[in-house]
Amino acid sequence: MATLEELKAKAVAMLDMAYVPYSHFPVGAALECEDGAVFTGCNIENSSFGLTICAERTALVKAVSEGHRDDWKRIAVVGNSADYCWPCGACRQVMLETEKRFKQPMRVLLYGKKGIYELKNVGELLPLSFDASAMK
Ligand code: THU
Repeated sequence: MATLEELKAKAVAMLDMAYVPYSHFPVGAALECEDGAVFTGCNIENSSFGLTICAERTALVKAVSEGHRDDWKRIAVVGNSADYCWPCGACRQVMLETEKRFKQPMRVLLYGKKGIYELKNVGELLPLSFDASAMK
């Protein structure tokens, strides 16, 4: 298992991988799973702006595509902003899938110039959310 500092360092390293020719705002993420596997991500922009994928979702889709869909333990997120880089609504909804489907709470660790802001689960970020129960 990575230490908090190691996980943060992996997210920070992703700032250099970000493809951000339009916003010039790199974001890095590092998702750790129960078995210690870490999946990193950066934001990847596109000239068709709506096709941009955020750092968090890059990390999450990498994890799922490698067989890690129900064991997300914690995700570190870092941006180059004065405040914390609060995950966008789309990323919150995607992160919440693990708690709604697999009942696996995931800690969210936001790193900024003020230090660390830690959430015990994704539900705190997205109350009253849409989930599979609505489709029954
Ligand atoms: N961005 C992320 O990567 N994660 C977030 O949660 C917030 C926004 C990116 C998307 C875009 O490339 C840039 O930040 C500015 O919106």
